[in-house]
Amino acid sequence: MPSPPDARFATEAALRHIMLDYRQMTEFVKEPFLVARADGIRFWDVHGKEYLDGLAGIFTVNVGYNNPRVLQAVTDQLRTLPFNPPMHGTNPRAVELAGLLAEVTPGDLNTARLVDSGSEANEAAFKLARQYHRQTGNPGKFKILSRYLSYHGATAATMSAGGVGYRKTLYEPAAIGHLHTYPPYCYRCPYEKTYPACDVFCARTLRQLIEWEDPRSIAALIVEPISNTGGIITPPPEYLPTLRQLCDEFNILLIFDEVITGFGRTGHLFAAHTFAVTPDILCCGKGMSSGYAPLAAAMVSDKVAQTFWGAPGTEFAHGHTYAGNPVAAAAGLASVREIVERKLPENARAMGAYLVRQLEATLRPLGLVGDIRGKGLMIGVELVADPATKRPFAPEVQIGLRIGKRALANGLLLRFDPHWLAFGPPLIVTEADLDQMVAVLELSIREVLREL
Ligand SMILES: Cc1ncc(COP(=O)(O)O)c(C=O)c1O
Repeated sequence: MPSPPDARFATEAALRHIMLDYRQMTEFVKEPFLVARADGIRFWDVHGKEYLDGLAGIFTVNVGYNNPRVLQAVTDQLRTLPFNPPMHGTNPRAVELAGLLAEVTPGDLNTARLVDSGSEANEAAFKLARQYHRQTGNPGKFKILSRYLSYHGATAATMSAGGVGYRKTLYEPAAIGHLHTYPPYCYRCPYEKTYPACDVFCARTLRQLIEWEDPRSIAALIVEPISNTGGIITPPPEYLPTLRQLCDEFNILLIFDEVITGFGRTGHLFAAHTFAVTPDILCCGKGMSSGYAPLAAAMVSDKVAQTFWGAPGTEFAHGHTYAGNPVAAAAGLASVREIVERKLPENARAMGAYLVRQLEATLRPLGLVGDIRGKGLMIGVELVADPATKRPFAPEVQIGLRIGKRALANGLLLRFDPHWLAFGPPLIVTEADLDQMVAVLELSIREVLREL
């Protein structure tokens, strides 16, 4: 059989001209992975091999691939208006999308600052927070608090807010004014406490940090309600309400980075709903357009937004060529309406519960599952050498990477790290799809365990 035409791009010669994310290219060219087309929850590589997408690309394609409504909206918009002059005005779809976002986000998050990526949304949130304090008589408030093991983006300030050392050290010194605290990692509590006896010490201890640091210098606290990079770190119910109280007490803006958790992923439209806490700024991206176009937003509360609606000089001094782009906005409108009207958050809740049951039943007996955690269709599995003592695998085993790579070779895309792996499939998945995914994962784990 002749090779498909796009297979010619999966060669070292063709790949000489591209630099990919977080990847040593000399390794990548040995086994290039190029996706050629997709449909529903499946995609095919340039050689025609089929894969189940257990990760929605990267927690992004919430409505699935080839969704007719989103395709129609994007193609119609391309024909009508592909771009507008951003320094002079905007376009109807961007205004319509901002209105829809104001409707679907919780509380008084009624103003959308549209941008093109999650990093840009968080970056904008930091600037909005600093300017807000400046415009309300607290110009000294500029520091941004965040947590170890978090990820908020790849740009300079969001990288500095991130809490994974190896992603920063090559580029340090990082931006000044970024402080970190420990995450609510209950399975391996950094404070060596046990929930619920701890009474969420990890949240309460922030008071000490704020007081010692000087509350007059702190602008905002940014958290992912559930943190992906640390291994789907899922807080106990009291954690985010405690952060909310502390932020209110010390006039610190609470920013939720919902770039992954937004648009149904955790079983409600936003994790803010899942945990019943409304932030002052909610940053979202990925699932908003389901990946059909680059699109993200910082949703701003009335309290913050009204300080930008006034005298010249109080406007947001910020811009991007593609922010509020009409094609991206059209994709967002169609994707968000699909998510809402087809009740995809409810499906995420039901399918997530089913997935957890299947993982418990299938993987626990294999003797390497430490913890299964998450909400909705954001589910992580921490892998350990001994579940009874939580002893991790030796670092050189790279258990999660090995299993993840084997699963990919067996036709299943997952998120994988040295010590954990995660599922984040499109929110349209069915029980039958999940059964297939879990079966491939089980096979892959058994294959890897035989090699150890
Ligand atoms: C929680 C979180 N915040 C921010 C970002 C950055 O988004 P982007 O890659 O669209 O810049 C990501 C990306 O994966 C993310 O997971």
